[in-house]
Amino acid sequence: MSSIRVSVLAAVCASMVSFGAVTHGQGAKPAQADAKPEGPRWALTGNMQQLMRGIFFPNANMVFNVQTHDPADKKPLPPGAAGSATTNFDWNLWGASLYSGWEDVDYAAITLAEVTPLLLTPGRTCANGKPVPVERADWIKYTTDMLEAARKSYEASKTRNMEMVADSTNDLNDACQACHRVYRDRRPPNVERGDPAAMALRCTAP
Ligand code: HEC
Repeated sequence: MSSIRVSVLAAVCASMVSFGAVTHGQGAKPAQADAKPEGPRWALTGNMQQLMRGIFFPNANMVFNVQTHDPADKKPLPPGAAGSATTNFDWNLWGASLYSGWEDVDYAAITLAEVTPLLLTPGRTCANGKPVPVERADWIKYTTDMLEAARKSYEASKTRNMEMVADSTNDLNDACQACHRVYRDRRPPNVERGDPAAMALRCTAP
């Protein structure tokens, strides 16, 4: 009886395909797997270097630091430690003291995952003016691997287990390095690291 039901349902689903109607989770999966990852197409403000220095670097470091620092050790600031309205008030210190250490790690991993689609925003350039190769299959792969690694760190953070997070940082580090090896760290021949000319090949395909 139940097998008959299933086949009827399958027939109904098949006949609804032309409406794009997907009424259950199983049907949605293939469509998602086929979807081409895209970055948001509006409100472009910074170049790749600014995005990396401003968001990827600090948030990844927050996660990497769990290798050696227990987030549970974070202590609330003593009253007045961030200064007051009349003394040197430190917004950074004040803001950084609001959440627990583990919450900070959650937010860092979530931030990395959420901002990763920005790596696919068309029109962005590297600091050297070269367009970010958002259409290239390898760049898209590095980006989706980055998203997966950040989500893995978030899952690890939720366990509140330092070792789990430290393990997840292997994948996170690999995700950064895989892209950097190709699109950041290649240099023209005979150009030293640190030389402004060393940035010439950034964002360019080998
Ligand atoms: C999909 C590719 C890609 C991924 C993934 C990626 N980066 Fe980058 N990163 C770049 C490129 C390209 C540059 C060079 C940007 C420029 O010069 O404008 C860069 C530059 C940087 C810089 C600045 C270097 C400088 O010039 O001062 C830092 C820091 C950085 N990345 C950190 C990270 C970290 C940490 C991660 C992982 C959490 C990461 N990146 C993931 C492509 C990537």
